[in-house]
Amino acid sequence: MNGASVSVSKIEKVFSGAGPQPLKVLRGISFEVQAGESLSVTGPSGSGKSTLLHIIGALDYPTAGSVLIDGRDISALDESSRVEFRNRKAGFIFQSHYLLPQLTVIDNILVPAWNSRRDCEEHIERAYLLLRRVGLSAFAKRLPGQLSGGERQRVAVARALLMRPALVLADEPTGALDRENAAALIELMLEMNCMEKTTLLMVTHSEYCAEKMERRIEILDGMISG
Ligand SMILES: Nc1ncnc2c1ncn2[C@@H]1O[C@H](COP(=O)(O)OP(=O)(O)OP(=O)(O)O)[C@@H](O)[C@H]1O
Ligand SMILES: [Mg+2]
Repeated sequence: MNGASVSVSKIEKVFSGAGPQPLKVLRGISFEVQAGESLSVTGPSGSGKSTLLHIIGALDYPTAGSVLIDGRDISALDESSRVEFRNRKAGFIFQSHYLLPQLTVIDNILVPAWNSRRDCEEHIERAYLLLRRVGLSAFAKRLPGQLSGGERQRVAVARALLMRPALVLADEPTGALDRENAAALIELMLEMNCMEKTTLLMVTHSEYCAEKMERRIEILDGMISG
């Protein structure tokens, strides 16, 4: 596998019902990402970055336009195929790690395998391999509350990669980290992107993180600037 190609075409998103007027957040966004590429999405707060990422990850629907992942229009899929897409093809990393506090690190990494019928041993082996790759082998049996913020985000990276996603979607993964930990996490994500042959889309407010990606786009007023 070489990562997924992503083709975003004329995406529009209108939120209605949240206020007196419908809110047009995305106004015709189009861009392409090649398989295996890394791309950053920047833009002011409220410009629609998370909304766009949710649409690409089939967590939300566009009002108009299409998203093709490896040539397949994910907005046209029925709900069970969208769930299948999210479980099989996409790995998510958010600003806050969303680790389950009562589960050990290794069990948290295994959460995406809960719905899978595949051999359990294979998943466990891969969870330990990923834990080693993110440099936390010694912490397998710790609880998230016993880790630093940076370490928790590394666990979130391992968890996102468990099911060998072709596409990794990250929404401000370094948002809660200091500079040093943010830089280390970005290095790790790029290394994993290369090693695991995933396509990486990262929303970030950090100029440093954006510069580290192969390509970048900026969203202003619901459109791509420049
Ligand atoms: N479910 C929703 N219903 C109504 N409005 C929404 C919804 N989700 C987001 N919005 C609005 O859409 C706009 C874009 O939100 P979004 O979260 O995509 O911005 P963002 O670029 O990710 O901002 P930030 O950098 O602060 O995370 C905001 O004005 C927000 O209030
Ligand atoms: Mg956001």
